[in-house]
Amino acid sequence: LVLVVDFGAQYAQLIARRVREARVYSEIVPHTTAVSEILARRPKAVILSGGPSSVYAENAPAVDPALFTAGVPAFGICYGFQAMAQALGGTVEKTGRSEFGGTPLLVTDETSRLFAGLPSEQSVWMSHGDSVTRAPEGFAVVAASAGAPVAAFEDVTRGLAGVQFHPEVLHSAHGQAVLERFLFEVAGCEPTWTTDNIVEEQVATIRAQVGDKRVVCGLSGGVDSAVAAALVQRAVGDQLTCVFVDHGLLRKDEARQVEEDFVASTGVKLKVVDARERFLGALAGLTDPEAKRKAIGREFIRVFEQAAREVVADAGAHGEEVEFLVQGTLYPDVVESGGGTGTANIKSHHNVGGLPDDLQFSLVEPLRTLFKDEVRKVGLELGLPEAIVWRQPFPGPGLGIRIIGEVTEDRLAVLREADAIAREELSAAGLDREIWQCPVVLLADVRSVGVQGDGRTYGHPIVLRPVSSEDAMTADWSRLPYDVLARISTRITNEVREVNRVTLDITSKPPGTIEWE
Ligand code: XMP
Repeated sequence: LVLVVDFGAQYAQLIARRVREARVYSEIVPHTTAVSEILARRPKAVILSGGPSSVYAENAPAVDPALFTAGVPAFGICYGFQAMAQALGGTVEKTGRSEFGGTPLLVTDETSRLFAGLPSEQSVWMSHGDSVTRAPEGFAVVAASAGAPVAAFEDVTRGLAGVQFHPEVLHSAHGQAVLERFLFEVAGCEPTWTTDNIVEEQVATIRAQVGDKRVVCGLSGGVDSAVAAALVQRAVGDQLTCVFVDHGLLRKDEARQVEEDFVASTGVKLKVVDARERFLGALAGLTDPEAKRKAIGREFIRVFEQAAREVVADAGAHGEEVEFLVQGTLYPDVVESGGGTGTANIKSHHNVGGLPDDLQFSLVEPLRTLFKDEVRKVGLELGLPEAIVWRQPFPGPGLGIRIIGEVTEDRLAVLREADAIAREELSAAGLDREIWQCPVVLLADVRSVGVQGDGRTYGHPIVLRPVSSEDAMTADWSRLPYDVLARISTRITNEVREVNRVTLDITSKPPGTIEWE
């Protein structure tokens, strides 16, 4: 275990991911965690992340020097590097020589462990105003840049080291290598954390938690719930019942994939609720996006609750109890909501949310420690089909918020066809993993004139919204190759009767959102 002390969330998560990419398990703790608490977890090493503060700012988060005398190797990055320098008696100053962005770095000590075997000149990503101007006692200064005379230091005997730049970002050419030098050469970690270990460990944990009780899991068609369910299935087999609510707002083939491919690859016991008519009824006459979301959410809870009751009743008839509900909560959600441990009450989670008091479950959250890319690897390891594992993020309200206007069965059929063509062509062009997602939107209340064959048409436009993003908080429109766009446009206008125009959304987020509603 390597603990990343979080001085600024987006940096800490990226560092933890990079450590895990080096096959060393890593978790994040807030910088307010007491040293005694950190040590109690017996970490192999501690990494202090970057952060937005200056060590001289009022209320700047400090580091307790006791962290460095406990015999646990430690690595400081950017702010963490400066905080470490300051805590150990070095000097940090505002030199007026800030560095932001790609910066040349010169390795000044050939015997450095951090830079062993790496080029003596390399480009690194900097983002700092203050600089360390004197390393603490006992440290060798091993690299410098124009604005940072002490850009890296190390004291191998104590297992302490730090760098001013950000090794975790891809713009630092040898960043991952430097991080690995610290982990393996300075801290003595072993690269043993692998996907099959994760599966093994989770299976054991789930078995211990669940015992011989029964478990219910709601499947959404998305990656997270599928992998969570597959893990629980691997652990406790038939004690698990999955519930899949088909609300009719899924894309072409998705319901079938859950009902057939998922069941075939996992052997899971599945209860399918066909609620398509019910959802269409609830959506009738609604055009406001929030009203649609509310109606879909409300119906979903009602249908899921009813199905869960049936599972409970069915189990009761066999003298068993249903005690657990599976949730596909991921590590970033855990970190962002304060990282608490323990069994949360279902009411505080709104993925399934709002279940009534007489349906109390304990939660099984087998993905709580994983990042999305790790969830995908686990899914593949468990034998789930690529079509499920590599599915693009898809909003809970589904196609319901991709029809601008009232949702009707006819309109859903049009959108489903157009969307299937876009997805097929993007996959064929090998672009699935390059884009974050590509919503396809039907402007159902807009009509456009076209000419097809000999006649005038009066149809609806389709909008393609391909975006690239790291986390959906910000996004840029994807510069897709023209020939791929051309194929999608030609096919949609030829094959989908009601559509006579295909348009491309070239708005970044902000100011646009990814979805149109
Ligand atoms: P926006 O449109 O806000 O989308 O830029 C950001 C990400 O969230 C997804 N999204 C939703 N997911 N329920 C969901 O579960 C929703 O109501 C919802 N609205 C948007 C969207 O697909 C994108 O990945």
